[in-house]
Amino acid sequence: MTSPVRVLITGAGSGLGRAMAMAWARRGAQIIVADIARERAEESVALCKTSGAADAVFLALDVTSEPDFVAALEWVTAHWGGLDIVVNNAGVAGGGSFEGISEADWSWMLNINLLGVVRGCRVFTSLFKQQQQGQFVNIASMAGLLNPPAMANYNVAKAGVIALSETLAAELSPWNIRTLAVCPSYFQTNLNESLRTHDPLTKAALNKLLASSDITADDIAEGIVAAVGAGDNLYLPHEQAQQAWDRKRQNPGVIPEDMLVYARKLAAAQGKN
Ligand SMILES: NC(=O)c1ccc[n+]([C@@H]2O[C@H](COP(=O)([O-])OP(=O)(O)OC[C@H]3O[C@@H](n4cnc5c(N)ncnc54)[C@H](O)[C@@H]3O)[C@@H](O)[C@H]2O)c1
Repeated sequence: MTSPVRVLITGAGSGLGRAMAMAWARRGAQIIVADIARERAEESVALCKTSGAADAVFLALDVTSEPDFVAALEWVTAHWGGLDIVVNNAGVAGGGSFEGISEADWSWMLNINLLGVVRGCRVFTSLFKQQQQGQFVNIASMAGLLNPPAMANYNVAKAGVIALSETLAAELSPWNIRTLAVCPSYFQTNLNESLRTHDPLTKAALNKLLASSDITADDIAEGIVAAVGAGDNLYLPHEQAQQAWDRKRQNPGVIPEDMLVYARKLAAAQGKN
C-alpha cells in the first residue's frame, strides 16, 4: 500500500485553493489548509474530511510572513515526517489605470502575489532537498504571459511567479524537486473580494470576467492534479488562452489586436476621444 500524498495549500479557504484541497482529498491525501481566513478555511477542512482525505488540518498562515511558513515547516516535520507538495496559491486582485496604482498598492500586491510564492518555495526547499523529492505548484495567471492593460501590478507579480517557477524547475531538478507554474485565465471564485483599485470600472469589469469562464475551479483543480502526475512545468487550463499564448509566441513583438482594442475602450471610458 502506498502512503497518502502530503499537501500544503496556501489560500485553501476559498476558490481554487479549496477546489485543489478537495481534488487531493478525493484521492485520500493528507492536506494542510493554510489561510488567513479561519472560518472559510475550517469549512474547507470539513469538506476535505467528508471527501476522503486521510487527514485535513487548518494552519493559520499569512503568506507575507516568513515565520508563518517556518512554523508550517516545523509542523509538517513534527506531525507528518515531511511533505510532498507545496501549493503556493494565495493571491489577491488589483489594477486600474497605471498612473493611479500607488506605490503602496504595488508593495501590497508584490508582497502577497509574488513574494508570498518566493517565501513558500524558499522555506520548503531545504526540506525537499533533504528528502531528495518534492513538488512546488505555483499559481500564476495568463495575466503574467499576456499582460492585459490596466492590471500592471497584478501582471508584474504573476510574470515574476512564472519566472521564479521556470528558474526553480531547472535549478532544483538535480534533487528531484519539480516545479509547476499554473496560468489560468478568469474563472469564478471570491477573488473580487480582495480587489484593490482606485478605478470603479475595474471592479465591474473583474466581476464580469470572473463570471465569463466556461470552466470551473474544480475543472482547473483536476487539471492541476493531472499536470503534477505528468511531471509538467507549465499548465494553461483555458483553451482560448492557450491559443492566445501560441499566437504570441509566434509573434512575440506584436501586441495582440484585442489588447489594443481593450486599451482604447478603457481610454474612452476615461474620457479620451
Ligand atoms: N479567479 C481567477 O480568475 C484567477 C485567474 C488567474 C489566477 N488566479 C489566481 O488563483 C489564486 C487563487 O485565487 P482565487 O481566484 O481562488 O481567489 P479567492 O479569493 O477565492 O481565494 C484566495 C484565497 O487566498 C487567501 N489569502 C489572501 N491573502 C492571503 C495571505 N496574505 N495569506 C494567506 N492567504 C491569503 C484568501 O483568504 C482566500 O482564501 C490566486 O493566486 C489568483 O491570483 C485566479
